[in-house]
This record gives sequence, structure tokens and C-alpha cells, in this order.
Amino acid sequence: MTTDRRTAGRSSGPDESLLAELITVAASAPSAHNTQPWDPRISAGGIELGVAEGRTLPVGDGTGRDTLLALGAWTEAAAIAARRAGRELIVDTLPTLGDPELIVSARRRDPVARLTLGGAPRPTDDPARLLDADLLAARLTYRGPVRRADGFLTAAATVLPDWAGLVPITARDLNRMALLGTADTLTRPGAVEELASWLRLSPRHPQYAVDGLTDRVLRLPRPVAAVAAPFTRPDRPRRAAAWAARRGGDLLRRLLLEVPIEAAGDAADADHFTLVVRSNELAIGTGVELTRVLNSPLGLPPEVVFETGRVLLRVWLCAARMGAAFSPHSEVLDSALAQGELQHRLGLGRRTVPLFVASVGRPAERHPARSPRRRLA
Ligand SMILES: Cc1cc2nc3c(=O)[nH]c(=O)nc-3n(C[C@H](O)[C@H](O)[C@H](O)COP(=O)(O)O)c2cc1C
Repeated sequence: MTTDRRTAGRSSGPDESLLAELITVAASAPSAHNTQPWDPRISAGGIELGVAEGRTLPVGDGTGRDTLLALGAWTEAAAIAARRAGRELIVDTLPTLGDPELIVSARRRDPVARLTLGGAPRPTDDPARLLDADLLAARLTYRGPVRRADGFLTAAATVLPDWAGLVPITARDLNRMALLGTADTLTRPGAVEELASWLRLSPRHPQYAVDGLTDRVLRLPRPVAAVAAPFTRPDRPRRAAAWAARRGGDLLRRLLLEVPIEAAGDAADADHFTLVVRSNELAIGTGVELTRVLNSPLGLPPEVVFETGRVLLRVWLCAARMGAAFSPHSEVLDSALAQGELQHRLGLGRRTVPLFVASVGRPAERHPARSPRRRLA
């Protein structure tokens, strides 16, 4: 899972300003709850990519799937920015990428990948490698009403490797699975408290302009944000909110397992899909080795999930090129119940692993709110 090494070893001291620029540009990458889990450091003519302490989701993302996707997306953004500057970015993942101490709980700061600058990129007509760096600034997550982006799935398929795919989901199925996933997640101890710790529902929140999910990107009406904001504070209010959510989630989950749901409103106007990895198209071992990978929490080697994060960013940029945005629905994958239903409804076999679920469409408003970013020195 590395780029071509023939150009390796060409980077040198004067490249440092370009490396610093790549770090700045790649900060636009998406991440679950806008945690921005990357910790890039310039060292020995390259970038050592680590996982930032306190920026993972040990409860909500216990397999590390979302952190790996975000690190992959960050790396792809850096690679696209490097290509604009006329250089190839050589990516070497390290065995630490498979260490849950780093990927799930970020307990140590060891690098998980090393990125170095190579020579000029070879001429190509590969659609995935022609994605423009300007699209990085246009990429968007949008959770409001959208207009359909006709032809998105066909356009995005051109930037996929042969081991990945985009499988459409009907609005009705997604509605049901997302509700089930939400209800199931709410019943998990710690999950709501963790989510609440990433909500920034008032500009008075000290991290409002830095990270997390603001009232504006979540499109919460002012009175709702004002009432909910105190419950995002640590300790008692957050715990009380988690207790109430658990009771409500349990009730909703029981209801959903009995009652069929119809698609309505915004969801009916968007397209919906899941990004899957077809592990039978990859050489991931045989016999006991293969069984171990398939039975692992991710169901895939961590380098493949990281690489899928790179693919995810390309697919997101294809949407941006059409003026469209994603509204992700990770709750479908965070719940074993909802994911099981997804696999069943789409007829996905055990070796087809869904890693990301989203709706896609063109935002109905002209200047949607954007998520904040922390500045990296
Ligand atoms: C792996 C991954 C999972 C995500 N899951 C969700 C999700 O379940 N719900 C949601 O509303 N946004 C989700 N997002 C979108 C992030 O919240 C978004 O990327 C972040 O807030 C930064 O905003 P931006 O993408 O507009 O820059 C996800 C993003 C990534 C990369």
C-alpha cells in the first residue's frame, strides 16, 4: 500500500517549506466529529504522521475505523497538494498503524506513516490523479436539504481502485438503518458523553473555532442549541444527558425493530451509498492468516482502511467538482444491528466490508457553514 518508490530518497532540507505547506493544506481533510486526529511533524526531510492525543473516539470508534479513514484522507490531501507543487508524495505506512493503543486511544505519539517528497509526478491520465488541489477548499459536509447531483455515482466510480466500490442504498433503507444505528448507539455507555464532548453549541465554547461540531454546521435552531449547550459541559450535565439518551435510545430501538419506516423529506432528494472494500480483490493472505484478518474488529488489514481513507477523499472531491456535498451516516456502521441490516439489504457477502455511508447532493443554500480547523504549527 505505498506509492511507487523509484523516486524515493530525493527530498532534502530546502523542501521543508513545501512540507509545511502540505501540512497546512491537508488540515482541510474530513474527520469524524471533526476531531482532526492527525499529528504531522516534519523530520529528516519528510513528515512523520502520528495520531494526536485526545483526538480519537475510543468509545464511538472502538475499532479505529474512522481514525484510519481520517488519516488516509489527510494523506491524500497532502499528496494532491504535493502534485500541485510538481512533486510526488511517497507514502510508507508503518506497523504501528495496526496498534489500537495509538489508533483507538492515542496513548503514544509514535508515527504511523512516513511521507517523503519524490520527484516530479509521471504524466498520467488516471482520473484519480487528476483531481485538482482547488477542490480541497470546495469539499463540504452538509446536513441540510439538497438537490440531486445526477451522475455522481458514475463519475465517482472512475476514481476507485478495483478493490473498492460504491453501492447505492435506497432512501427508505438508509432512513431505517440510520435511525436504528442512532438508537443503538445512544444505548451504549459512554457513547453519548463522548459525542457531547465534541459538540460546540455556543460561540462561548472555548473550542468553538478550533474543532468539533458547531451548532451552525449541525444546523440547529438557536433555541435548541441554547437549551442543549449546557449538557455538553463535562461531568454532571453530560452524564445526565447520557442517561436520558440511553433510556430514549432503548425505547426507539425496540420500536424500530417492529415498525417499518418510510423515507421522507431531505433524504428522499439525495443519493445514498456505501463505500465498500472487496477484500477478495486484495492479497490479504490465506488460511489462518486470512481468517485472523476477517475476524479482526475491522475485518480488513489497517493499511487497507488507511488506503480507503485516501479513496474516500477522492470520491468526496468528485462530489465537490459537481457542487455537491456529503452527509455521512456512520451511525449505520457503528451499530452491529444496523450494519447487519445493511449487509443483508444490499446482499453484501462477508468479504465485502462497508467502511463509510453517506448521502450526497447539492446544498440548497449558497454559503453553508463550514467546520472550524485547528492550526498546526
Ligand atoms: C470517517 C468519517 C466519518 C464521519 N461520520 C459522520 C457522521 O456519522 N455524521 C456526520 O454528520 N458527519 C460525519 N462525518 C463528517 C465530519 O463531521 C466532517 O468531516 C467534519 O465535521 C469536518 O467538516 P468538513 O468535512 O465539512 O470539513 C464523518 C467524516 C469522516 C471522515
